[in-house]
Amino acid sequence: MATSSPGRQPQNDGCHTVSLSGHVGFSSLPDQLVKKSIEQGFCFNILCIGETGIGKSTLINSLFNTSFDDPVSAHFLPNVGLRAQTYELQESNVLLKLTIVNTVGFGDQINKEDRALSCTVLHLQKIKEVLFLGAGHSLKTLDLLTMKSLDSKVNIIPIIGKADSISKTQLQKFKSKIMSELVSNGIHIYQFPADDEAVSEINTIMNGHLPFAVVGSTEEVKIGNRMVRARQYPWGVVEVENENHCDFVKLREMLICTNMEDLREQTHAQHYELYRRCRLEEMGFRDIGPENKPVSLQEAYEAKRHEFYFELQRKEEELRQQFVQRVKEKEAILKESEQQMQSKFEHLMLMHQEAKLELGKKKKVLEDQIAMFIEKKANAELLQSQASVSTPVVSLKRDKDRKNSNFI
Ligand code: GTP
Ligand code: MG
Repeated sequence: MATSSPGRQPQNDGCHTVSLSGHVGFSSLPDQLVKKSIEQGFCFNILCIGETGIGKSTLINSLFNTSFDDPVSAHFLPNVGLRAQTYELQESNVLLKLTIVNTVGFGDQINKEDRALSCTVLHLQKIKEVLFLGAGHSLKTLDLLTMKSLDSKVNIIPIIGKADSISKTQLQKFKSKIMSELVSNGIHIYQFPADDEAVSEINTIMNGHLPFAVVGSTEEVKIGNRMVRARQYPWGVVEVENENHCDFVKLREMLICTNMEDLREQTHAQHYELYRRCRLEEMGFRDIGPENKPVSLQEAYEAKRHEFYFELQRKEEELRQQFVQRVKEKEAILKESEQQMQSKFEHLMLMHQEAKLELGKKKKVLEDQIAMFIEKKANAELLQSQASVSTPVVSLKRDKDRKNSNFI
């Protein structure tokens, strides 16, 4: 089908702009996208890192104007863990699937650096969108190390928690100190994008306010005739949403209202892409060759497959050789023990023969003795019977004498 028309204008990139003579219908594409997005809903993940009790849960509750029922953590956990929970939130007709991942036990261990790093880096594969870090009142080595290990994987938005416990002048100094520490440690934090005209001005201004110093609260206090989220003290009230009191509104505007989609895109386009490439390299693949030329994954796969195949064959041959060697060794051992058994058997047989001979001799002696004894007995009996026939009285008398002598 021809796409040219009388109104065609050639362009440099080989693409031509053409005018339409009538309605086609693709002007509804944006509406179709909006409809599809609304039907599918949106996903957003927040990983909230900060020491136990720094105010993470209170801040998240304040940000989304709800109560997420996040249990309070113990301060003496042996390890750092991540606790993830997904919630569905509805505002007007827009559905948001929000996954909140909280660190549990961060900074509570003795060997803090190791524990925190291994935990967060290990679990990062599951988190795709945003990370923000409650930095407390001072940037500790742990905070810096954690941010350094994460900055290529997620978008970091640094936040100063419990900003109501620090004076305004101290706060400014603290903000500048944090920013210079981040720069000197080469930590990349998320910058609100300045390339979109509609938001470039506000985003640039907001980048200058980082790190946001926020106050969170689950309480509402009556100010005039309104109930507002605030923290009440004997000396006054700190309003969470009052821009003179803290940067909470700036954070909410930037994170949720203005840049949520950019954060999602950035995570996917940059961090996820980087993660994907690293994982490929770990598996021995690259989709970019020397001089940054794209490499066909199919070719890389085939080459790797051949490499693995040869390696497999080599290993198989090695194993086979080992097996043959083992069998030979076992055979030799068996043969040796067979010979030992044989000589033992022969020795026993010899002993048995000797014992048998000895026994035969002894038997012969005994048989001779028995024969002699029988002969003697027969002779004695013969003599006795002859004697009793010739002298019976004497014999009787002798018998009687013998019996009597037994009683003396
Ligand atoms: P774990 O989940 O146990 O690690 O704690 P968490 O970081 O979620 O802290 P959580 O929000 O539970 O708050 C801990 C305590 O700090 C609570 O008593 C809060 O009321 C208080 N808190 C939270 N945010 C602020 C704040 O901005 N200022 C002050 N002064 N206190 C706060
Ligand atoms: Mg909590």
